[in-house]
Amino acid sequence: MAFAPGKVILFGEHAVVYGRPAIAVPVTQVGARVTVERGVDGVLIQAKDLGLSHTLGESPVDEALEPVASLVESTLEYLGVRCPPPLVITITSTIPIARGLGSGAAVSTALVRGLSEHFGRELGPEEVSVLVYEAEKFHHGTPSGIDNTVISYERPIYFVRGEFPQIFKVGKPFLLAIGDSGVKSPTKVVVGEVRRRWEREPSRYETLFDQIGRIAERAKEEMEEGNLERLGSLMDENQALLQDLGVSSPQLDGLVKVAREAGALGGKLSGAGRGGSVIALIEERTREAVTTAWERGGAQRVIATEVSS
Ligand code: PMV
Repeated sequence: MAFAPGKVILFGEHAVVYGRPAIAVPVTQVGARVTVERGVDGVLIQAKDLGLSHTLGESPVDEALEPVASLVESTLEYLGVRCPPPLVITITSTIPIARGLGSGAAVSTALVRGLSEHFGRELGPEEVSVLVYEAEKFHHGTPSGIDNTVISYERPIYFVRGEFPQIFKVGKPFLLAIGDSGVKSPTKVVVGEVRRRWEREPSRYETLFDQIGRIAERAKEEMEEGNLERLGSLMDENQALLQDLGVSSPQLDGLVKVAREAGALGGKLSGAGRGGSVIALIEERTREAVTTAWERGGAQRVIATEVSS
């Protein structure tokens, strides 16, 4: 049995695709689980929540299981298992799909971990991350790699595309509220739209990406020093730039606004935008007010997670 957590991006989404830094943290309150057991015939993959199953090598494969089937094959190959014994691989997840919480990367990470444990191999986070990145391409097209990295390392990371992640110390643990807008966030579509706008007006978008990148740099310092007030303000600044990028929505803006009114130190959308999740920097004393404000504002689910080293 293997587990992998969800994640949220705290700073730098979209700009990270263009080489600017971003910060993401794992969210252990939700996650994906994979069990790998001896089977009877072939390699059977069961995605319980989706009500789908597939036996490796048989066709056709359901579109939703394609990345999973391909990842099972590439992981077995990586592990040097040429003729796999009969297996039953069962996948379950508590991470809502397409809400910016890393559902695809978490399923993939749990899958790689489950298979490697089954065959008595311990893979390091970087090895897991590289295998998962390939599967991420199915979901996202041109992913920056931040999701597979933060979920494989299970630590707060400062991430620049193509570089090893920096795992850094959080000076003072803090609480994050995460609200599910209930609207699917089409990562591929939103990333594609930003790309088209960037192609039309490169200098305008490069400037926005630079500004977002600088916020991520400053946010790392504030997290290290434990300056939560300033960290909250940086979330607000990042949200304003995400609005300028055109990836927010009236609903997300509304949720961020009511969180601040309820006492949050700052807030923003998290992930690709348009839908998905919002996050807010809260304290124990503002937790209930923010949760209530979001529930009244239409959030489907609100969870709180502590960010620490
Ligand atoms: O919505 P998510 O969790 O898939 O996050 C997307 C983050 C982007 O920066 C918009 C894309 C990427 O590949 O980093």
